[in-house]
Amino acid sequence: MTHSVGPDAGPDLSLDSDDPPRPPTGVGDGRALGAWLDIMRASHPVWRDPLTGSAHVFRYHDLLHVLSTPEVYGSDFTGVMPPSDPSAPNFAEGVLTMIDPPRHGKLRRLVSQAFTPRVITALEPRIIQLTKELLDTVADQDEFDLVAVMAHPLPVIVIAEMLGIPAEDRELFRAWGEALLSTNYELETGEVPDNSALPPDVVAQLTEMRDYLLRHVDLHRRNPRDNLTSRLAFAEVDGDRLSDQEIVSFLNFLLLAGHLTTSLLMGNSLLCFVEAPEAELAARANRALIPGAIEEVLRFKPPVVMQARLTTMDTVLAGVELPARTPVMGWPMSGNRDERQYTSPSTFDITRNPNPHLTFGHGIHFCIGAPLGRMEARSVLNELFDRYRSIEIGEPRYYDRSPDVFGVKALPVTVKRS
Ligand code: HEM
Repeated sequence: MTHSVGPDAGPDLSLDSDDPPRPPTGVGDGRALGAWLDIMRASHPVWRDPLTGSAHVFRYHDLLHVLSTPEVYGSDFTGVMPPSDPSAPNFAEGVLTMIDPPRHGKLRRLVSQAFTPRVITALEPRIIQLTKELLDTVADQDEFDLVAVMAHPLPVIVIAEMLGIPAEDRELFRAWGEALLSTNYELETGEVPDNSALPPDVVAQLTEMRDYLLRHVDLHRRNPRDNLTSRLAFAEVDGDRLSDQEIVSFLNFLLLAGHLTTSLLMGNSLLCFVEAPEAELAARANRALIPGAIEEVLRFKPPVVMQARLTTMDTVLAGVELPARTPVMGWPMSGNRDERQYTSPSTFDITRNPNPHLTFGHGIHFCIGAPLGRMEARSVLNELFDRYRSIEIGEPRYYDRSPDVFGVKALPVTVKRS
Protein backbone atom coordinates (compact mmCIF):
# COMPACT_ATOMS: atom_id res chain seq x y z
CA MET A 1 0.00 0.00 0.00
CA THR A 2 1.34 3.42 -0.85
CA HIS A 3 0.49 6.90 0.23
CA SER A 4 2.36 10.14 0.67
CA VAL A 5 1.80 12.08 3.88
CA GLY A 6 2.58 15.70 4.62
CA PRO A 7 5.32 16.94 6.95
CA ASP A 8 5.10 15.82 10.58
CA ALA A 9 2.67 18.17 12.29
CA GLY A 10 3.75 17.43 15.87
CA PRO A 11 3.57 20.33 18.34
CA ASP A 12 6.64 22.13 19.61
CA LEU A 13 7.06 20.38 22.95
CA SER A 14 9.83 20.88 25.44
CA LEU A 15 11.00 18.25 27.93
CA ASP A 16 12.51 20.40 30.61
CA SER A 17 9.40 22.22 31.73
CA ASP A 18 7.57 21.68 35.04
CA ASP A 19 4.54 23.09 33.37
CA PRO A 20 3.79 20.52 30.71
CA PRO A 21 2.19 21.39 27.38
CA ARG A 22 -1.58 21.10 26.98
CA PRO A 23 -2.79 18.03 25.13
CA PRO A 24 -3.96 18.62 21.57
CA THR A 25 -7.74 18.66 21.11
CA GLY A 26 -9.05 15.63 19.23
CA VAL A 27 -6.95 12.79 17.87
CA GLY A 28 -7.00 13.35 14.09
CA ASP A 29 -4.10 11.59 12.38
CA GLY A 30 -2.58 10.88 15.79
CA ARG A 31 0.71 12.66 15.18
CA ALA A 32 0.27 15.65 17.47
CA LEU A 33 -1.26 13.45 20.16
CA GLY A 34 1.51 10.83 19.79
CA ALA A 35 4.17 13.53 20.20
CA TRP A 36 2.45 14.86 23.34
CA LEU A 37 2.16 11.36 24.80
CA ASP A 38 5.87 10.67 24.15
CA ILE A 39 6.82 13.80 26.09
CA MET A 40 4.42 13.16 28.94
CA ARG A 41 5.46 9.50 29.28
CA ALA A 42 9.06 10.62 29.72
CA SER A 43 8.54 13.69 31.90
CA HIS A 44 5.20 13.38 33.76
CA PRO A 45 4.28 9.67 33.86
CA VAL A 46 1.23 10.44 36.03
CA TRP A 47 -0.05 13.96 35.57
CA ARG A 48 -2.95 15.80 37.17
CA ASP A 49 -4.33 18.33 34.75
CA PRO A 50 -5.16 21.53 36.66
CA LEU A 51 -7.69 22.52 34.00
CA THR A 52 -9.94 19.43 34.03
CA GLY A 53 -8.93 17.92 37.40
CA SER A 54 -8.34 14.55 35.69
CA ALA A 55 -5.20 12.49 36.18
CA HIS A 56 -3.47 11.03 33.12
CA VAL A 57 -1.50 7.78 33.16
CA PHE A 58 1.07 7.31 30.42
CA ARG A 59 3.35 4.37 31.30
CA TYR A 60 2.55 0.74 30.55
CA HIS A 61 2.95 -0.66 34.08
CA ASP A 62 1.05 2.16 35.75
CA LEU A 63 -1.80 1.67 33.31
CA LEU A 64 -1.72 -2.09 33.88
CA HIS A 65 -1.99 -1.42 37.62
CA VAL A 66 -4.96 0.93 37.15
CA LEU A 67 -6.81 -1.57 34.94
CA SER A 68 -6.02 -4.46 37.32
CA THR A 69 -7.30 -2.71 40.46
CA PRO A 70 -11.01 -2.01 39.93
CA GLU A 71 -11.64 -1.62 43.67
CA VAL A 72 -9.50 1.56 43.62
CA TYR A 73 -9.97 2.61 40.00
CA GLY A 74 -13.69 2.14 39.40
CA SER A 75 -15.70 2.57 36.22
CA ASP A 76 -18.95 4.04 37.52
CA PHE A 77 -18.95 7.78 36.73
CA THR A 78 -22.60 8.47 37.56
CA GLY A 79 -21.65 10.35 40.74
CA VAL A 80 -19.49 12.89 38.92
CA MET A 81 -21.18 13.23 35.53
CA PRO A 82 -23.86 15.89 35.19
CA PRO A 83 -27.29 14.21 34.88
CA SER A 84 -28.09 13.28 31.28
CA ASP A 85 -30.40 15.40 29.17
CA PRO A 86 -33.88 14.47 30.55
CA SER A 87 -35.40 14.77 27.08
CA ALA A 88 -32.99 12.13 25.66
CA PRO A 89 -33.17 8.37 26.21
CA ASN A 90 -30.79 7.17 28.87
CA PHE A 91 -28.63 4.30 27.63
CA ALA A 92 -26.29 4.30 30.62
CA GLU A 93 -27.68 1.18 32.35
CA GLY A 94 -26.22 -1.23 29.83
CA VAL A 95 -22.80 0.29 29.37
CA LEU A 96 -20.72 -2.55 30.82
CA THR A 97 -17.57 -0.49 30.76
CA MET A 98 -19.17 1.95 33.24
CA ILE A 99 -20.51 -0.58 35.74
CA ASP A 100 -18.58 -1.78 38.80
CA PRO A 101 -18.65 -5.17 40.55
CA PRO A 102 -20.68 -7.01 41.64
CA ARG A 103 -23.30 -6.08 39.04
CA HIS A 104 -20.68 -5.88 36.32
CA GLY A 105 -19.72 -9.56 36.67
CA LYS A 106 -23.35 -10.70 36.52
CA LEU A 107 -24.15 -8.72 33.39
CA ARG A 108 -20.86 -9.69 31.78
CA ARG A 109 -21.57 -13.39 32.29
CA LEU A 110 -24.86 -12.96 30.44
CA VAL A 111 -23.34 -11.42 27.40
CA SER A 112 -20.13 -13.43 27.32
CA GLN A 113 -22.05 -16.60 26.42
CA ALA A 114 -22.57 -15.05 23.01
CA PHE A 115 -18.83 -14.44 22.55
CA THR A 116 -17.21 -17.74 23.53
CA PRO A 117 -14.39 -18.93 21.24
CA ARG A 118 -16.71 -21.67 19.95
CA VAL A 119 -19.47 -19.21 19.00
CA ILE A 120 -17.00 -16.84 17.35
CA THR A 121 -15.25 -19.63 15.41
CA ALA A 122 -18.63 -20.73 14.09
CA LEU A 123 -19.21 -17.22 12.73
CA GLU A 124 -16.09 -17.29 10.54
CA PRO A 125 -17.61 -18.73 7.33
CA ARG A 126 -20.40 -16.14 7.45
CA ILE A 127 -17.90 -13.31 8.02
CA ILE A 128 -15.80 -14.45 5.06
CA GLN A 129 -18.93 -14.67 2.90
CA LEU A 130 -20.01 -11.15 3.91
CA THR A 131 -16.51 -9.82 3.21
CA LYS A 132 -16.64 -11.26 -0.31
CA GLU A 133 -20.16 -9.95 -0.92
CA LEU A 134 -19.21 -6.44 0.12
CA LEU A 135 -16.16 -6.38 -2.16
CA ASP A 136 -18.29 -7.84 -4.98
CA THR A 137 -20.30 -4.61 -4.90
CA VAL A 138 -17.23 -2.79 -6.27
CA ALA A 139 -16.06 -5.61 -8.56
CA ASP A 140 -16.16 -3.24 -11.55
CA GLN A 141 -14.47 -0.27 -9.82
CA ASP A 142 -10.78 0.50 -9.41
CA GLU A 143 -11.38 3.39 -7.03
CA PHE A 144 -13.63 3.35 -4.00
CA ASP A 145 -13.84 4.31 -0.35
CA LEU A 146 -12.83 1.27 1.66
CA VAL A 147 -14.63 2.55 4.76
CA ALA A 148 -17.96 2.97 2.97
CA VAL A 149 -17.65 -0.34 1.14
CA MET A 150 -16.21 -2.55 3.87
CA ALA A 151 -14.93 -1.14 7.17
CA HIS A 152 -18.21 0.55 8.06
CA PRO A 153 -20.77 -2.05 6.96
CA LEU A 154 -19.07 -5.36 7.85
CA PRO A 155 -18.91 -4.93 11.65
CA VAL A 156 -22.43 -3.50 11.86
CA ILE A 157 -23.85 -6.35 9.78
CA VAL A 158 -22.10 -8.93 11.96
CA ILE A 159 -23.30 -7.48 15.26
CA ALA A 160 -26.80 -6.77 13.85
CA GLU A 161 -27.06 -10.44 12.77
CA MET A 162 -25.99 -11.58 16.24
CA LEU A 163 -28.79 -9.43 17.70
CA GLY A 164 -31.36 -10.56 15.12
CA ILE A 165 -31.81 -7.14 13.51
CA PRO A 166 -33.25 -7.53 10.00
CA ALA A 167 -30.98 -6.71 7.05
CA GLU A 168 -33.26 -3.96 5.73
CA ASP A 169 -32.91 -2.00 8.99
CA ARG A 170 -29.12 -1.93 9.15
CA GLU A 171 -28.76 1.45 7.48
CA LEU A 172 -30.73 3.04 10.30
CA PHE A 173 -27.88 2.24 12.65
CA ARG A 174 -25.41 4.36 10.72
CA ALA A 175 -27.15 7.64 11.58
CA TRP A 176 -27.92 6.50 15.11
CA GLY A 177 -24.32 5.46 15.67
CA GLU A 178 -23.11 8.84 14.52
CA ALA A 179 -25.60 10.61 16.79
CA LEU A 180 -24.32 8.62 19.76
CA LEU A 181 -20.73 9.38 18.92
CA SER A 182 -21.45 13.06 18.51
CA THR A 183 -22.53 13.29 22.16
CA ASN A 184 -18.84 12.81 22.89
CA TYR A 185 -17.49 15.46 20.57
CA GLU A 186 -15.37 18.48 21.32
CA LEU A 187 -14.40 17.64 24.85
CA GLU A 188 -11.17 18.91 26.34
CA THR A 189 -8.82 15.92 26.48
CA GLY A 190 -9.53 14.25 29.82
CA GLU A 191 -12.80 16.10 30.41
CA VAL A 192 -15.73 14.08 31.80
CA PRO A 193 -18.56 14.13 29.22
CA ASP A 194 -21.49 16.41 29.85
CA ASN A 195 -24.66 15.17 28.16
CA SER A 196 -26.97 17.38 30.20
CA ALA A 197 -28.15 19.32 27.12
CA LEU A 198 -27.98 17.65 23.71
CA PRO A 199 -28.85 19.22 20.35
CA PRO A 200 -32.48 18.47 19.39
CA ASP A 201 -31.50 16.50 16.25
CA VAL A 202 -29.29 14.20 18.35
CA VAL A 203 -32.12 13.72 20.88
CA ALA A 204 -34.47 12.88 18.00
CA GLN A 205 -32.08 10.26 16.59
CA LEU A 206 -31.49 8.67 19.96
CA THR A 207 -35.21 8.54 20.68
CA GLU A 208 -35.84 6.85 17.35
CA MET A 209 -33.16 4.31 18.16
CA ARG A 210 -34.54 3.64 21.65
CA ASP A 211 -38.06 3.12 20.27
CA TYR A 212 -36.78 0.81 17.54
CA LEU A 213 -34.86 -1.30 20.06
CA LEU A 214 -37.83 -1.42 22.47
CA ARG A 215 -39.97 -2.85 19.65
CA HIS A 216 -37.18 -5.27 18.83
CA VAL A 217 -37.00 -6.54 22.43
CA ASP A 218 -40.76 -6.80 22.68
CA LEU A 219 -40.83 -8.89 19.51
CA HIS A 220 -38.26 -11.25 20.96
CA ARG A 221 -40.08 -11.59 24.27
CA ARG A 222 -43.25 -12.60 22.44
CA ASN A 223 -41.50 -14.70 19.81
CA PRO A 224 -38.12 -15.96 21.06
CA ARG A 225 -35.44 -16.86 18.52
CA ASP A 226 -31.93 -18.20 18.67
CA ASN A 227 -30.07 -14.92 19.08
CA LEU A 228 -28.54 -12.65 21.69
CA THR A 229 -31.62 -10.43 22.04
CA SER A 230 -33.77 -13.42 23.02
CA ARG A 231 -31.14 -14.68 25.42
CA LEU A 232 -31.04 -11.29 27.13
CA ALA A 233 -34.83 -11.04 27.18
CA PHE A 234 -35.09 -14.27 29.19
CA ALA A 235 -31.89 -14.05 31.23
CA GLU A 236 -32.06 -13.51 34.98
CA VAL A 237 -29.72 -11.47 37.16
CA ASP A 238 -30.16 -11.90 40.96
CA GLY A 239 -33.42 -13.73 40.25
CA ASP A 240 -34.82 -10.81 38.23
CA ARG A 241 -35.33 -10.51 34.52
CA LEU A 242 -33.62 -7.53 32.91
CA SER A 243 -36.08 -4.73 32.21
CA ASP A 244 -36.77 -3.73 28.60
CA GLN A 245 -34.92 -0.49 29.26
CA GLU A 246 -31.87 -2.39 30.54
CA ILE A 247 -31.84 -4.67 27.51
CA VAL A 248 -32.22 -1.75 25.14
CA SER A 249 -29.29 0.10 26.64
CA PHE A 250 -27.28 -3.12 26.58
CA LEU A 251 -28.05 -3.70 22.88
CA ASN A 252 -27.20 -0.12 22.16
CA PHE A 253 -23.85 -0.52 23.90
CA LEU A 254 -23.05 -3.71 21.98
CA LEU A 255 -23.81 -2.03 18.68
CA LEU A 256 -21.56 0.84 19.60
CA ALA A 257 -18.75 -1.20 21.18
CA GLY A 258 -18.62 -3.68 18.33
CA HIS A 259 -18.98 -1.34 15.41
CA LEU A 260 -16.81 1.74 15.25
CA THR A 261 -13.85 0.08 16.99
CA THR A 262 -13.66 -2.75 14.46
CA SER A 263 -14.24 -0.40 11.56
CA LEU A 264 -11.30 1.71 12.75
CA LEU A 265 -9.10 -1.36 13.14
CA MET A 266 -9.60 -2.18 9.46
CA GLY A 267 -8.70 1.33 8.30
CA ASN A 268 -5.75 1.52 10.69
CA SER A 269 -4.42 -1.77 9.30
CA LEU A 270 -4.15 -0.24 5.84
CA LEU A 271 -2.58 2.92 7.22
CA CYS A 272 0.08 0.86 9.02
CA PHE A 273 0.91 -0.99 5.81
CA VAL A 274 1.36 2.36 4.05
CA GLU A 275 3.99 3.25 6.64
CA ALA A 276 5.61 -0.20 6.51
CA PRO A 277 5.29 -1.56 2.94
CA GLU A 278 7.76 -4.36 3.69
CA ALA A 279 5.34 -5.64 6.36
CA GLU A 280 2.57 -5.77 3.78
CA LEU A 281 4.77 -7.72 1.36
CA ALA A 282 5.67 -10.19 4.11
CA ALA A 283 2.03 -10.67 5.15
CA ARG A 284 0.92 -11.10 1.53
CA ALA A 285 3.58 -13.76 0.99
CA ASN A 286 2.88 -15.57 4.26
CA ARG A 287 -0.71 -15.25 5.43
CA ALA A 288 0.20 -16.90 8.72
CA LEU A 289 1.69 -13.51 9.62
CA ILE A 290 -1.69 -11.75 9.43
CA PRO A 291 -2.83 -12.41 13.03
CA GLY A 292 0.49 -11.01 14.34
CA ALA A 293 0.14 -8.06 11.97
CA ILE A 294 -3.31 -7.28 13.39
CA GLU A 295 -1.95 -7.37 16.95
CA GLU A 296 0.77 -4.96 15.88
CA VAL A 297 -1.79 -2.63 14.27
CA LEU A 298 -3.73 -2.70 17.53
CA ARG A 299 -0.58 -1.74 19.43
CA PHE A 300 0.65 0.83 16.93
CA LYS A 301 -2.58 2.60 15.98
CA PRO A 302 -5.14 1.73 18.66
CA PRO A 303 -8.76 2.50 17.65
CA VAL A 304 -9.50 3.57 21.23
CA VAL A 305 -6.67 5.66 22.62
CA MET A 306 -7.81 6.16 26.21
CA GLN A 307 -9.72 4.27 28.93
CA ALA A 308 -11.35 6.17 31.79
CA ARG A 309 -11.59 5.29 35.48
CA LEU A 310 -12.66 7.10 38.67
CA THR A 311 -10.80 6.65 41.97
CA THR A 312 -13.06 5.17 44.65
CA MET A 313 -10.72 6.21 47.51
CA ASP A 314 -7.67 8.35 48.15
CA THR A 315 -4.66 6.70 46.56
CA VAL A 316 -1.15 7.34 45.29
CA LEU A 317 0.10 6.35 41.85
CA ALA A 318 3.75 6.71 40.88
CA GLY A 319 4.19 9.19 43.73
CA VAL A 320 1.23 11.36 42.68
CA GLU A 321 -1.61 11.76 45.17
CA LEU A 322 -5.03 11.06 43.74
CA PRO A 323 -7.95 11.96 46.02
CA ALA A 324 -11.15 9.89 45.87
CA ARG A 325 -13.36 10.73 42.86
CA THR A 326 -10.48 11.77 40.62
CA PRO A 327 -11.17 10.89 36.96
CA VAL A 328 -8.20 8.90 35.67
CA MET A 329 -7.45 8.72 31.94
CA GLY A 330 -5.27 5.74 31.06
CA TRP A 331 -3.60 5.93 27.67
CA PRO A 332 -3.05 2.62 25.85
CA MET A 333 -1.82 4.71 22.94
CA SER A 334 1.06 5.74 25.20
CA GLY A 335 1.51 2.50 27.19
CA ASN A 336 1.73 0.58 23.90
CA ARG A 337 4.74 2.72 22.98
CA ASP A 338 6.44 2.55 26.37
CA GLU A 339 10.18 1.96 25.93
CA ARG A 340 10.22 0.24 29.35
CA GLN A 341 7.89 -2.46 28.03
CA TYR A 342 8.73 -2.75 24.33
CA THR A 343 11.94 -2.98 22.34
CA SER A 344 11.89 -0.43 19.48
CA PRO A 345 8.31 0.64 20.23
CA SER A 346 8.21 3.06 17.31
CA THR A 347 8.88 0.28 14.81
CA PHE A 348 5.89 -1.45 13.25
CA ASP A 349 6.96 -5.09 13.53
CA ILE A 350 4.41 -7.74 12.59
CA THR A 351 6.58 -10.51 14.05
CA ARG A 352 6.66 -8.90 17.50
CA ASN A 353 6.15 -11.65 20.06
CA PRO A 354 4.96 -11.35 22.75
CA ASN A 355 2.84 -8.29 22.09
CA PRO A 356 0.80 -7.65 25.26
CA HIS A 357 -0.72 -4.35 24.09
CA LEU A 358 -3.47 -2.71 26.14
CA THR A 359 -5.75 -1.81 23.24
CA PHE A 360 -8.48 -4.24 24.32
CA GLY A 361 -8.05 -3.14 27.93
CA HIS A 362 -7.07 -5.48 30.74
CA GLY A 363 -8.67 -7.12 33.77
CA ILE A 364 -12.37 -7.40 34.47
CA HIS A 365 -13.41 -5.10 31.60
CA PHE A 366 -11.18 -6.74 28.98
CA CYS A 367 -12.95 -6.49 25.63
CA ILE A 368 -15.48 -9.28 25.15
CA GLY A 369 -15.48 -8.81 21.40
CA ALA A 370 -11.70 -9.05 20.89
CA PRO A 371 -11.82 -12.44 19.09
CA LEU A 372 -14.61 -11.14 16.85
CA GLY A 373 -12.84 -7.89 15.98
CA ARG A 374 -9.65 -9.80 15.20
CA MET A 375 -11.50 -12.28 13.02
CA GLU A 376 -13.24 -9.57 10.99
CA ALA A 377 -9.95 -7.76 10.39
CA ARG A 378 -8.30 -11.05 9.36
CA SER A 379 -11.08 -11.83 6.92
CA VAL A 380 -10.82 -8.38 5.32
CA LEU A 381 -7.03 -8.42 4.95
CA ASN A 382 -7.05 -11.90 3.45
CA GLU A 383 -9.73 -11.00 0.94
CA LEU A 384 -8.06 -7.71 -0.02
CA PHE A 385 -4.74 -9.51 -0.59
CA ASP A 386 -6.49 -12.23 -2.62
CA ARG A 387 -8.28 -9.79 -4.89
CA TYR A 388 -5.81 -6.98 -5.36
CA ARG A 389 -2.13 -7.12 -6.09
CA SER A 390 -1.77 -3.48 -5.09
CA ILE A 391 -3.82 -1.01 -3.05
CA GLU A 392 -2.92 2.66 -3.24
CA ILE A 393 -4.30 4.90 -0.51
CA GLY A 394 -5.54 8.44 -1.19
CA GLU A 395 -5.99 11.20 1.39
CA PRO A 396 -7.61 9.66 4.50
CA ARG A 397 -10.33 11.56 6.38
CA TYR A 398 -9.88 11.09 10.13
CA TYR A 399 -12.31 11.28 13.01
CA ASP A 400 -10.95 14.57 14.21
CA ARG A 401 -13.26 15.82 16.91
CA SER A 402 -13.61 12.87 19.26
CA PRO A 403 -11.07 12.74 22.12
CA ASP A 404 -10.65 8.97 22.28
CA VAL A 405 -11.20 7.56 18.79
CA PHE A 406 -8.29 7.09 16.40
CA GLY A 407 -8.92 6.20 12.78
CA VAL A 408 -10.52 7.09 9.48
CA LYS A 409 -14.08 7.85 8.48
CA ALA A 410 -13.12 7.74 4.76
CA LEU A 411 -10.23 5.97 3.05
CA PRO A 412 -10.11 6.31 -0.74
CA VAL A 413 -8.24 3.45 -2.42
CA THR A 414 -7.13 2.70 -5.98
CA VAL A 415 -6.72 -1.00 -6.57
CA LYS A 416 -5.03 -3.21 -9.15
CA ARG A 417 -6.59 -6.63 -9.47
CA SER A 418 -4.55 -9.82 -9.06
C1 HEM B 1 -11.34 -4.43 17.27
C2 HEM B 1 -11.84 -3.49 17.86
C3 HEM B 1 -12.16 -3.32 19.32
C4 HEM B 1 -11.46 -2.58 20.23
C5 HEM B 1 -10.18 -1.81 19.97
C6 HEM B 1 -12.16 -2.66 21.48
C7 HEM B 1 -11.74 -2.05 22.66
C8 HEM B 1 -12.30 -2.27 23.89
C9 HEM B 1 -11.77 -1.78 25.15
C10 HEM B 1 -10.52 -0.92 25.28
C11 HEM B 1 -12.57 -2.21 26.14
C12 HEM B 1 -12.37 -1.97 27.64
C13 HEM B 1 -12.78 -0.60 28.06
C14 HEM B 1 -12.44 -0.32 29.50
O1 HEM B 1 -11.74 -1.09 30.17
O2 HEM B 1 -12.86 0.76 29.97
C15 HEM B 1 -13.64 -2.94 25.51
C16 HEM B 1 -14.70 -3.50 26.20
C17 HEM B 1 -15.76 -4.10 25.57
N1 HEM B 1 -15.89 -4.41 24.24
FE1 HEM B 1 -14.52 -4.03 22.80
N2 HEM B 1 -13.28 -3.43 21.32
C18 HEM B 1 -13.31 -3.87 20.01
C19 HEM B 1 -14.27 -4.68 19.45
C20 HEM B 1 -15.40 -5.14 20.08
C21 HEM B 1 -16.44 -5.93 19.48
C22 HEM B 1 -16.43 -6.45 18.04
C23 HEM B 1 -17.40 -6.12 20.44
C24 HEM B 1 -18.71 -6.84 20.37
C25 HEM B 1 -19.42 -7.05 19.36
C26 HEM B 1 -16.94 -5.48 21.65
C27 HEM B 1 -17.61 -5.49 22.84
C28 HEM B 1 -17.09 -5.03 24.03
C29 HEM B 1 -17.78 -5.14 25.30
C30 HEM B 1 -19.16 -5.76 25.54
C31 HEM B 1 -16.95 -4.56 26.27
C32 HEM B 1 -17.24 -4.36 27.75
C33 HEM B 1 -16.53 -5.34 28.60
C34 HEM B 1 -16.67 -5.04 30.06
O3 HEM B 1 -16.79 -3.88 30.48
O4 HEM B 1 -16.70 -6.00 30.82
N3 HEM B 1 -15.72 -4.89 21.39
N4 HEM B 1 -13.44 -2.98 24.14
